[in-house]
Amino acid sequence: MAIIVPSILSADFTRLGDELSAVERAGADWIHVDVMDGHFVPNLTMGPMTVEAVRKVTALPIDAHLMIDNPDQFIETFASAGATHISIHAEATRHLNASLQLARKCGAHPGVALGPSTPLSVLEWSLDYADYVLLIAVNPGFGGQELQPAVLDKIRALRAELARRGLSTIIESDGGINDRTIGDFAAAGVDAFVAGSGIFAARDYSAAITRMRSEIERRRRSGALR
Ligand code: DX5
Ligand code: ZN
Repeated sequence: MAIIVPSILSADFTRLGDELSAVERAGADWIHVDVMDGHFVPNLTMGPMTVEAVRKVTALPIDAHLMIDNPDQFIETFASAGATHISIHAEATRHLNASLQLARKCGAHPGVALGPSTPLSVLEWSLDYADYVLLIAVNPGFGGQELQPAVLDKIRALRAELARRGLSTIIESDGGINDRTIGDFAAAGVDAFVAGSGIFAARDYSAAITRMRSEIERRRRSGALR
């Protein structure tokens, strides 16, 4: 089953509780929280208080995407605030395996996030420590950008590597995912699809998620038939 993950970066913050209930009713599987520190990425967004607030209104898994320097400093705080999944950028931590182990110790599923220019080779000795890999399809920092198509080859390469190693690590992708592009992500091998503007800019969230799911199914079926 495809995992659909609305990113609240594109939600209406004056009505965050209603927005969360609406995407939950519309069939969201996880909620994605984009944490930016103005250093690792050129934008400032949310922190543990937001995760805590989200935790109060939904029982869905909360996927905290840490776009911050020195992530180790905050992993425990995000886990106690209610994040069930914590992704750490390989570019932002000095000791990736230690960060992943810390997230697990704090009770969260550890994820490795890679920016679009970061090669998969950084995962070589880390894959066993991660429950998911988040391949970012845009330069991290802002919603509403166009995907960088090279990420699709990267997804295919990771899918092949996971098969080679016999791992069931989840592949998540993020950035530029909407009902026009989601089929390409699905065909390349993505399991969890993060979408900000692709969902929150739609008038009807339920219709948007349904369109995404049917596009995923259609592309997966045609891939399986080839
Ligand atoms: C970008 C963030 C994304 C962002 C995606 O740095 O990591 O999660 O919300 O936004 P869309 O889906 O609009 O490209
Ligand atoms: Zn994100």
